Amino acid sequence: QAYNEKESLYIALNFAKDFFVQNLQTEEGRAIGLSYFKERGFSQSIIEKFDLGYTLDGWDHLLKAAKAAGHSEEILLKAGLILQKEGDPTRVYDRFRGRVTFTIHNLGGKPIGFGARILTQDKKQPKYINSPETDVYHKSDVLYGMFQAKKSIREKDNCYLVEGYTDVVSLHLSGIENVVASSGTSLTENQIKLIKRFTDNVTVLFDGDSAGIKASLRGIDMLLEGGLNVKAVVFPDGDDPDSYSRKVGSQAFTDYLEKNAQDFIAFKIGLHADEASNDPIKRADLIKQVVASLSKIADPIIRSVYVRQSANLLEIEEEIIQVELNKIILKVQ
Ligand code: CTP
Ligand code: MN
Ligand code: MN
Ligand code: MN
Ligand code: MN
Repeated sequence: QAYNEKESLYIALNFAKDFFVQNLQTEEGRAIGLSYFKERGFSQSIIEKFDLGYTLDGWDHLLKAAKAAGHSEEILLKAGLILQKEGDPTRVYDRFRGRVTFTIHNLGGKPIGFGARILTQDKKQPKYINSPETDVYHKSDVLYGMFQAKKSIREKDNCYLVEGYTDVVSLHLSGIENVVASSGTSLTENQIKLIKRFTDNVTVLFDGDSAGIKASLRGIDMLLEGGLNVKAVVFPDGDDPDSYSRKVGSQAFTDYLEKNAQDFIAFKIGLHADEASNDPIKRADLIKQVVASLSKIADPIIRSVYVRQSANLLEIEEEIIQVELNKIILKVQ
């Protein structure tokens, strides 16, 4: 059979997906991988829905099986599944070893990469190892979970944006399917365009730590610039959507999302409300930050609605905001 190279990559990645999924049913896979997923509350059906798997401990389990099935080392390398030994590129070995795997699908549901989580608390190894960029996996174009979410995003006309693989899986367990993950990196223009194919509304659910809050502020401005309507939910410090939903249960979790989703303006102001309340310099700084976000909104009608809301929340005259805003907008044009 004459496949072109991209087709060969898809076939190899699909083989790896099947292999990792089957590994979960081996003795080692059950004892280590499956029990890990069960501890996190992942059901059998969610494991199947997301093609979750396990990579056996050892240097060449996938390599051997894939070669026996006719996949060349060259294709396995280009698919990001194996690595060349440093100093001796003729020796190759499995990229993912002794980890549970999250299959990354393209919009059509084909496997294009993997995220692999370590099972121990070993601080010397990264918590996640991810597939590299390949000819079929362009990270900046992909959002984890979009294949499983797209129908629901359209139906609900809203997209929840989370940071991690496990947050996506957990929200599905809570009955929320309109969710995708940025996978811990900052959003790209193409990812925002991808969301826009399905909805104009995004609710950001980032981790309740300082890194998560920083990332959500950055993400919010990018989403606004992309012409999306943005809300955000804050989680208690130390929790992410996955840990919080497991702590309180699905019903309380969905209630929490509904009650705590706030417009990006209220979110931004709320973050700094305490420090800004009696410090005039911090207060002025907050006003400038809010104005910076407002300036990202392209639609003048939507912008004017938010100008009014910001003025109310900040307890200042609308004109003050408008004047500051004009300085930025007129500069850009
Ligand atoms: N991430 C990564 N590499 C790391 C750490 C994080 O690629 N070394 C990405 C993963 O996509 C991860 C996301 O960033 O899902 C969010 O990171 P984090 O909050 O640390 O992980 P969780 O998804 O919450 O994982 P867990 O609950 O298993 O700790
Ligand atoms: Mn649209
Ligand atoms: Mn985090
Ligand atoms: Mn987590
Ligand atoms: Mn997290």
